[in-house]
Amino acid sequence: MEEQLDDVFIFDHPLIQHKMSKLRDKHTTSKEFREIVNEISMLMAYEVTRDMPLREIEVETPICKTKAYEIEGKKAALIPILRAGLGMVGGWLELIPNAKVGHIGVYRDPQTFEAIEYYCKLPEDIGQRDVYLLDPMLATGVSSVACLDILRRRGVKACKFVCLIAAPEGIQTLREAYPDVPIYCAALDQCLNEHRYIVPGLGDAGDRLFGTK
Ligand code: URA
Repeated sequence: MEEQLDDVFIFDHPLIQHKMSKLRDKHTTSKEFREIVNEISMLMAYEVTRDMPLREIEVETPICKTKAYEIEGKKAALIPILRAGLGMVGGWLELIPNAKVGHIGVYRDPQTFEAIEYYCKLPEDIGQRDVYLLDPMLATGVSSVACLDILRRRGVKACKFVCLIAAPEGIQTLREAYPDVPIYCAALDQCLNEHRYIVPGLGDAGDRLFGTK
């Protein structure tokens, strides 16, 4: 994992880069797309959670008692931004099966490009959890900032933003609004086009995941 800018981490692992190429390819089917998003999400989760604190415990093996470790501290919450963020949840849950999953739905107004909230259901104790906000595409950053606004109002203090592809515009918007939220991505792309899609990107992540186009 390479730190590119302040608290922006890009995953340069060969396995992730290889899978990202398949994801970008327009010939990749929805079934394959879902599987690859799941795999990349799991690989990213492994690295993003590297700083989870451990506590020492004692376990008894069939041979003897020994010192061992378990994760201590706050519990995790995964918050996929609907709908494309759903594609990342499975990979994360494979590694952190006890995480609670909350959902936030925001859509981009096609005229104003503003984020409109239409759904929000979060774990009751979200403020006491380490939160991982998941969205495959960090484009304008408007949806992510809207979600972080909601999470902050609900008392969330520790949050990491995890995406597959980020655009410089999205990083800037997120950085300005929430300089304390680290950003993790598998690729930093060139720019946005006039429809606010990431270039070169991978198209509409939700449509490609769910086969709606
Ligand atoms: N959302 C997507 O699904 N793709 C983009 O390129 C930008 C936002």
